[in-house]
Amino acid sequence: MGEHKNPYPGENNTGHFWDDESDVRELNNRPPRWYMWALYIGTISIVIYALYFPTIPWFGEHNKGSANWTAITEMEESVQQLEDYRETKFADKEKAIADSSLEEIVLNDDLREYAVKTAKVLFGDNCAACHGAGGQGNDGFPVLADDDWVFGGTLAQINTTITHGKKGNMPGKGMLGNLTDPEMEKLTDYVMGLSQGKKDPAGQVLYMKGMCMACHGPTGKPTAPTAANLTDGIWRFKADDQRASVLRTIKHGVNKFGDANTQNAEMPAFGQSGVINATQLKKLVVYVHQLGGGVKVIPPTPAEFLPVEAKGGSFDAIIAAAEANYKKALDVNMAWRDTGKMIKEAKKTKDVALAKAANKQAVNALAQAAVADIASPRF
Ligand code: HEC
Ligand code: HEC
Repeated sequence: MGEHKNPYPGENNTGHFWDDESDVRELNNRPPRWYMWALYIGTISIVIYALYFPTIPWFGEHNKGSANWTAITEMEESVQQLEDYRETKFADKEKAIADSSLEEIVLNDDLREYAVKTAKVLFGDNCAACHGAGGQGNDGFPVLADDDWVFGGTLAQINTTITHGKKGNMPGKGMLGNLTDPEMEKLTDYVMGLSQGKKDPAGQVLYMKGMCMACHGPTGKPTAPTAANLTDGIWRFKADDQRASVLRTIKHGVNKFGDANTQNAEMPAFGQSGVINATQLKKLVVYVHQLGGGVKVIPPTPAEFLPVEAKGGSFDAIIAAAEANYKKALDVNMAWRDTGKMIKEAKKTKDVALAKAANKQAVNALAQAAVADIASPRF
C-alpha cells in the first residue's frame, strides 16, 4: 500500500485503501457531534449510577450507594405493600378468625375456606420442609393428611401439638431395658406381623415382657394418643428397609437420651417460637385438621332444639316446662299431638305424673328434631 500514490491527495484520508479501485478507504474525520454527546452523557451516567447504586466491590461485600437500594429491601417493601393491602382487604376475616374458636371456624364455610387458603403459604414456609408440601410426610416425619394420629386428630389435640410441640419418648430394649438381641429380633417379626393381621403367641409373650402395651396398648393399637399405632401398616419411621427401622426403634427407642442410634422425633413448639402469631397458628390448626384426617367437629345443638328445664318439682314448674317444650317442638315441626292433649288433661286434674309424661314427650320430640337437623350433612 505504501508504494501506491494517494489518488485523493486533497482528501482527509489516512492513506489506507482496501480495494484495487481505491474506493474503500479510511478517512480521518472527527466523529459526529451526536455521537460524542452520547459518549459524554453515557460516561457521566456511569459515574452517577455507580455512586447511586451499590456497584463497587468493597471489603468483602460492596459499597452501599447513596440510594441505599438493595434488591432485598425492594422485595421486602413489595411484600409489605402486599401485606398492607391484604390487611385492609381481609381485615374483617382476620378479625373473625382471631375472635372465633377453632370449632366455630371449622363449622363456618366462609371462615374455614379462608383459613385453609391463607394457611397454605404458612404451611409451605413453616411445616413443609419436614411434613412435605401437602402434609404427605417424609421419612422420619409423620403424615398429616391421614387419620392415623400419634397425638390425636381433634382440633384441641392438633392445637396442643402445634402450640407446645411434641417429643415422643420410647425406651430402648423394652420398658425395663431387659430384652436380649434375639428377643428383639423375634419381637420385630411380631410387630411386622401385627400390621398384616398376624398373631403370634410367642411374640405376644415378648411384647408383654417389654411392656410395650404400656404405651402401644395390648393389641398394638394405642387407646390414648401416646404412641404410634403398630397395627395399621402406616409407619411413623418409614424406611426402605422397614424391618430394620422397626428393629432400630425397638433397640434404640425414640428420643432416647444418650443413644446415638435412637429415632429422633421432635416437633417444634410453634406457639412459643414467635415465628407465627396466634391467628396464624389457628389457621394452621384448621388447615391440618382439614387435610383429611381431622376428627369430625360435631356442631353444638342449636338453641331451638335445647329443652327448657323445669324449675323445681312442683306441678306448676313441671307443667310450665312441658308447655314451653311443647311450644318449641311445634316450632321445629316435631311435636306429637298427644302431648297437647296430655297437657290439657294434666292442667285439669293437676296430675304431676301426667305433666311429667307430657314434658318427657316434648323433650324427646325436640331431641329427635335436633338429630334430624344434624343428620343433614355438615362436617
Ligand atoms: C423440624 C421438623 C418439623 C417441622 C418444621 C414441623 N414439624 Fe410437625 N412434627 C415433626 C415431628 C418429628 C413430629 C413427630 C413428633 C414425635 O413423633 O414425637 C411432628 C408431629 C406433628 C403433628 C402430630 C402428628 C400426629 O400424628 O399426631 C402435627 C399435627 C404437626 N407435626 C404439625 C406441624 C405443623 C402444622 C407444622 C408447621 C407449623 C410443623 N408440624 C412443623 C417435625 C416437624
Ligand atoms: C413409654 C412408652 C413406650 C413404650 C413402653 C414402647 N413404645 Fe414404642 N413408641 C412409643 C412412641 C412415643 C413412639 C413413637 C411415636 C412418635 O413419636 O411418633 C413409638 C414408636 C414405636 C415404633 C415405630 C412405629 C412406626 O410406625 O414406625 C415401634 C415399632 C415401636 N414403638 C415398638 C415398640 C415395642 C415393640 C415396644 C416394647 C418393647 C415399645 N414400642 C414400647 C412409645 C413407647
